[in-house]
Amino acid sequence: MATHSLFLLPGDGIGTEIMVEVEKLIAWTNGEGLTDFSTDSGLAGGAAYDKHGVAITDEDVAKAKAADAVIFGAVGGPKWDNVPYEHRPEAALLRLRKELAVFANLRPAICYPALADASSLRKELVEGLDILIVRELTGGVYFGEPKTITDLGNGQKRAIDTQVYETYEIDRIARVAFDLARTRGGKVHSADKKNVMKSGVLWDEVVKGVGKDYPDVELHHILADNAAMQLVRTPKQFDVMVTDNLFGDILSDVAAMLTGSLGMLPSASLGAPDPVTGKRKAFYEPVHGSAPDIAGKGIANPIAMIASFAMALRYSFNMIELAGKVEGAISAVLSDGLRTGDIAQDNRKTVGTEEMGAAILAKLKQ
Ligand code: NAI
Ligand code: MG
Repeated sequence: MATHSLFLLPGDGIGTEIMVEVEKLIAWTNGEGLTDFSTDSGLAGGAAYDKHGVAITDEDVAKAKAADAVIFGAVGGPKWDNVPYEHRPEAALLRLRKELAVFANLRPAICYPALADASSLRKELVEGLDILIVRELTGGVYFGEPKTITDLGNGQKRAIDTQVYETYEIDRIARVAFDLARTRGGKVHSADKKNVMKSGVLWDEVVKGVGKDYPDVELHHILADNAAMQLVRTPKQFDVMVTDNLFGDILSDVAAMLTGSLGMLPSASLGAPDPVTGKRKAFYEPVHGSAPDIAGKGIANPIAMIASFAMALRYSFNMIELAGKVEGAISAVLSDGLRTGDIAQDNRKTVGTEEMGAAILAKLKQ
């Protein structure tokens, strides 16, 4: 019996095209005896709706929950614009995040040397950049109650969103950030707006408390607006940044864009460790969507998907060395000048999805 289980949900559009490249990697690492993965796959998003009339079936949700890690492509597309709201493709993602209770969203911003001159910032500011944003994903203002729009009857309306955080939610996300910092640069920046928000005051208090358990990790407080400024001024000052759902949404996009295109960006979402096995539920997906404009053309960049798989190797299976090799292979093909259309540069060879995937695999084999 295989030691580790992966559940693959390619989804829609380019999701299916880029997942193929990950499947080839898995076949190779298994074949070499580097991994012992069993894989199963299911349908999510429009693909599931077309076949089963729902964005994801209960059976596939159960399989996702039973697996050691879920590898997800992307969902959605104009074909499903008019399906009933509760069955829209994105419902698959929301349901999976909820049922897996993945509260910690990890978004790395890494600058591959070959792409340093493609950044919107000066090369010296981003060369060697390696930041990890840890965003709280299941609480905060996106979910807090009350959440309403009220008609005031005088031609005016009132909209309310509520930011709610409890100690345990801040505690557990802070621990994820500190644990990760220990495996990296040993530094955490905690971003909030404690100057104007009560939830920020509690955030800071709890993070500082957790920090006492990690005397070996340097903790810095930063106001979220200043964090946005510093990220584009001197990004290399950061190692791990932990923040709430709303600020994390924005700051992770800012950090990501320092280093490249949407087609390059991986992510991981982790749940709490199981009290018995210590394993965390985990969900790995590229940041981008299903890219209907280029779907079916074989030109999607598979790097975000492959880098998401590398994150699975690192965070779910502790295969740090193999994860590093996969990332090294990505870096090497970029240094060789290979580019998909989204990261095309003058004088570099533009390749399709399959050729990029094959080139990365070839580097791994060396
Ligand atoms: P998108 O991320 O799919 O595409 C935005 C732009 O980036 C497009 O021009 C696309 O061609 C390009 N792009 C994205 N990934 C690429 C890749 N790997 N290689 C090359 N180019 C790439 O976002 P958009 O267009 O706003 O949404 C399209 C569909 O995807 C919608 O149905 C949306 O709801 C869904 N979506 C799904 C997400 C998910 O499954 N996690 C996340 C974001 C959007
Ligand atoms: Mg966003």
